[in-house]
Amino acid sequence: MIAFIVHGGAWDIPDELVSANRAGVEKALTIGWEILSNGGSAVEAVEKAIMSLEDDPTFDAGRGSHVNAIGEIELDASIMNGTTFRAGAVAAVQNIRNPISLARTIMDESEHILLAGIGAVRFAREHGMQQCKSGDLLTGRELERWRKLQGQKGFSTKEAFRKKSSHDTVGAVALDSAGVIVSGTSTGGTQNKYPGRVGDSPLIGCGTYADSAVGGASCTGWGESIIKVVLAKTAIDLLEHNGADSSAAASNAIERLAKKADGFGGIILLNNSGIPGVSFNTPRMARAFRTSEMNHSVVEV
Ligand code: GLY
Repeated sequence: MIAFIVHGGAWDIPDELVSANRAGVEKALTIGWEILSNGGSAVEAVEKAIMSLEDDPTFDAGRGSHVNAIGEIELDASIMNGTTFRAGAVAAVQNIRNPISLARTIMDESEHILLAGIGAVRFAREHGMQQCKSGDLLTGRELERWRKLQGQKGFSTKEAFRKKSSHDTVGAVALDSAGVIVSGTSTGGTQNKYPGRVGDSPLIGCGTYADSAVGGASCTGWGESIIKVVLAKTAIDLLEHNGADSSAAASNAIERLAKKADGFGGIILLNNSGIPGVSFNTPRMARAFRTSEMNHSVVEV
């Protein structure tokens, strides 16, 4: 069994953006699926699929990310291998085109898990990863949104998730032919966030978690609430104790997010047999999945 699932964020996706969201998650799924079905690793599938989502300005990750309160783009990402239990993550990193690749390099080539800010950029340079210009990540759409928010009183990150002005995080979970489960997540965080603000996405257990004996998960949504309930690990713990029911684990995790933290967002997961589960309590969530028991992909927004 091999299986792959990706998401492009849970939020109130307006009708006119549905087709771009569908196309983006379908492309990412295809990239990861090709790797897995040719015997490639779950790490490779997750990294390359998330790179495609980071390069697509439709999503709040890499190019097209939200701008912080002082007009900068700060990116968060993480990846975890559920067999080795190794993980890599970056927080509030600037001028990196594909933060998921930097997270993978930290996982593969460092004794650490999470590097933040200038230290993460230094690590990238030392490992031959080129820095991009700020303008390579900034889109006119986000610059315009940021300009409108300046001077606006009472802006709340929580409320931004309820409005059609937001967009959100991307992620992927893969099960490869060796039985390895890998999860990854990447984001530009929240609109107009305070400089240095870090959300759930780079935090292992919050935005991302993988344990090949149980399953893997990637989250999207209002990070401050996701952190409070350690959403990805909570979902995997539920999966471990509910008879590996992926759908129930995903929906119970999102119920817990709403009940305990007044939060909203979404989650994708795979159990250790590759059965996918999805849940979200926002109006829409872009996602796509395929397993070796299916002869076509499912793409939904
Ligand atoms: N879920 C992304 C963030 O809150 O940063």
